[in-house]
Amino acid sequence: MILLDQTRLPDEEIWLRLDKLNDVVEAIYALRVRGAPAIGIAAAYGVLVGMKGKVNLPLEDFKSHLQAVKERLFNARPTAVNLGWALGKMAEIVAQFSAGDSAVLYDRLEMEAFTIHSEDIELCDRIAAHGAALFPQNARIITHCNTGFLATGGVGTALGVIAAAHKLNGVEMVYADETRPLLQGARLTAWECQQLDLPCRVMTDSSAAYRMASETIHGVIVGADRIAANGDTANKIGTYGLAVAARAHKVPFYVAAPYSTIDSALAGGENIPIEQRPETEVTTLRGISLAPEGTAAWAPAFDVTPAQLITAIITEADVFRYPYDFS
Ligand code: MRU
Repeated sequence: MILLDQTRLPDEEIWLRLDKLNDVVEAIYALRVRGAPAIGIAAAYGVLVGMKGKVNLPLEDFKSHLQAVKERLFNARPTAVNLGWALGKMAEIVAQFSAGDSAVLYDRLEMEAFTIHSEDIELCDRIAAHGAALFPQNARIITHCNTGFLATGGVGTALGVIAAAHKLNGVEMVYADETRPLLQGARLTAWECQQLDLPCRVMTDSSAAYRMASETIHGVIVGADRIAANGDTANKIGTYGLAVAARAHKVPFYVAAPYSTIDSALAGGENIPIEQRPETEVTTLRGISLAPEGTAAWAPAFDVTPAQLITAIITEADVFRYPYDFS
């Protein structure tokens, strides 16, 4: 499995070849590959990495090893539903498998991983087409975290919508929140905007409300890691505050995500598992101390935006509006 190490961007473009399950799990945990859809795709390929050397095992042994591999991957990051969703798709292949040996089952799993990847490319295009029409000509748009081609298999979710809006009607400016603490906005979204020729200004997360007060912002659009059945949405820490500011300034607040991000098993956002990251991700930046040695920190990776603050949820299936009924 080969992937671009996102922790090194934008300074260096380092491609990693991952041949061991431990390395795939580490890459997901350390955010070398990140963004909910990309994590799902990486987990599907991770199953192949973990199982490649096991094709000579008897089928039952192969299956029990597979179970252990899935558990390792599942526990790498808890919030993005895509990880469990992709592993669930791989598990369905095993459940349906009736004729053949471990090597045949491995081939089926490989086909499923390719399908998960290629379907993500297609659904990103459909999300982009659905969302682009929501923005007027020469829109000024705020976004948070990174939701483009680095974060998915295709053109992206929220950033894919922005790029499509730019083609359709022109986008005057993308304001990219820097996205503390790991700077996915400053490092990755600004980099992607350069590649896509999208006009972009990075701003500190705390500048967003003032930007909305200073000029007309035509919309805020973000991705999602998990959406509860009532529309409550988990996304990168800072999203909730951005939604509150958008409501205060009457700016539409959109979420763009694959339909599979909706976790219908969860009635509301209070049950979404929120990943806690190491405190040093807040108190240091690339090895430089930002706070006195020993300072305690709080480092949730995500927050939950209540459904009533979300104007619409854009998926490949439909554009849903509050109050949400995804059935
Ligand atoms: O911790 P990260 O960088 O994986 O968080 C990513 C986000 O919160 C994204 O907004 C979300 O996964 C959607 S990516 C299309």
